[in-house]
Amino acid sequence: MTSSRQVSKRVASAVAASLLLWGGTAAAESGSGAFSAGGFYESQCAFCHGAAGKGDGAAASMLQPKPTNFADASYWDEADRAALAKVILEGKPGTAMVPFSGRVNAEQAAEMVDYLRKFAPK
Ligand code: HEC
Repeated sequence: MTSSRQVSKRVASAVAASLLLWGGTAAAESGSGAFSAGGFYESQCAFCHGAAGKGDGAAASMLQPKPTNFADASYWDEADRAALAKVILEGKPGTAMVPFSGRVNAEQAAEMVDYLRKFAPK
């Protein structure tokens, strides 16, 4: 269906545009040395991955593949933390997951993975 494709393309550019806008704020935050994984998640990740990490953020229904559900404990059985940190830095080709390397360093990406882990029941 071409029309729904075009719509999701438009949605994708809208999401990308808001990412650019929000990125400016995040850069200012990290410049002041005030990085917090929770704050960064809420401002940069929650609209796709959901406030509770369930992959059900506001943009999720428009995305294919869907954003990862980090609240699923079984997901973490297989998850490779180093690989996830790499996805945060470099993005995931073919998905809406964009690279955040301009906004977080490797240490902060690892911190984000620890933060994501907390969404799942132990
Ligand atoms: C524009 C929507 C969007 C935003 C914003 C977003 N993600 Fe994602 N994310 C996705 C999608 C879609 C995937 C791919 C899911 C898949 O491969 O099935 C993904 C994948 C990931 C993965 C890899 C999961 C895996 O198993 O391969 C990690 C880790 C991740 N995101 C963390 C984050 C973090 C941390 C942030 C905020 C700094 C963030 N994401 C922001 C949509 C988004």
